[in-house]
Amino acid sequence: MTREELVQKIEELKKEKNAIVLAHYYSNPDVQDIADFLGDSLELSRKAGTAEADVIVFAGVHFMAETAALISPKKKVLVPALGAGCTLADGACGKDLADWKAANPDGTIVSYVNTTAEVKSHTDICCTSANALSIVKGLPADAKVLFVPDKNLGAYIMSQTGRKMELYDGCCKVHDQVTTEMVKEMMAKYPDADVLIHPESACSSDPEILENPNCYMYSTSGILRHATESPKKQFIIATEVGTLHKLQKDNPGKEFIPVSEKIVCKYMKLATLEAVYEALRDEKFEVKVPAEISGRALEPITRMMSK
Ligand code: 13P
Ligand code: SF4
Repeated sequence: MTREELVQKIEELKKEKNAIVLAHYYSNPDVQDIADFLGDSLELSRKAGTAEADVIVFAGVHFMAETAALISPKKKVLVPALGAGCTLADGACGKDLADWKAANPDGTIVSYVNTTAEVKSHTDICCTSANALSIVKGLPADAKVLFVPDKNLGAYIMSQTGRKMELYDGCCKVHDQVTTEMVKEMMAKYPDADVLIHPESACSSDPEILENPNCYMYSTSGILRHATESPKKQFIIATEVGTLHKLQKDNPGKEFIPVSEKIVCKYMKLATLEAVYEALRDEKFEVKVPAEISGRALEPITRMMSK
């Protein structure tokens, strides 16, 4: 099938099945272009809850679809590729959290939304990179916080809030490649550019980066907002390269330079246009959260959403 035929078939199936396609900014550009809604993880969770659809095809990774299934249990949530994992979500297990909670009954577990439903079922409150600072600032000042699973985002939160937290030893293997040296090298090449950095990056709590007036730390939606609102013409983008598609589309007069072409999430690229079509056609692969944990796993998401 040609690309045009695939797009037409997808549109027909969306109408026939009252289905929508939600896509993350890291997904393939041609999938971003057919998505009914494009967003970062917080925006996509919100959309999953409010969309009036019977079927959601989630062109992202598994934990995002699982979150959508928790928020919208009456909708059929599909992932185009079963192998769409996440190095953060796959690196933390429920047992570790249960053990930590047992050892620290007075502790508050804050989980980044990049976690499995099982981990969420042991969590007190979730956050995404877009609301992490306000969620942690909103906890009682004397709360003993364990932040799971991203040590880079956790260190960034500590640097900005002045709060001490215990950090789980996890990271995103994609963003963890973004080092201070890499950023400095690109800044030397493009001295007029603003540098927009995702806080999952290895350099996100390095004072050398945080104190540099050209460097900004943002979630994906924050990166997009800054690029659109800034009068600057050149930006170094220190996050997953898929984000450049939307940046370029929204800002044709501006230049966006990836901090490195190597910052690619292979899991996000598994949802090809063809896989989205097949997911809609065959209503596969459905993501369901086991009933024994779904109620408990939804609680920290609901708490986050109500903030
Ligand atoms: P956002 O919260 O910015 O969407 O990031 C999600 C993610 O997986 C980053 O790697
Ligand atoms: Fe997970 Fe990193 Fe991929 Fe985001 S970029 S989905 S955190 S592996």
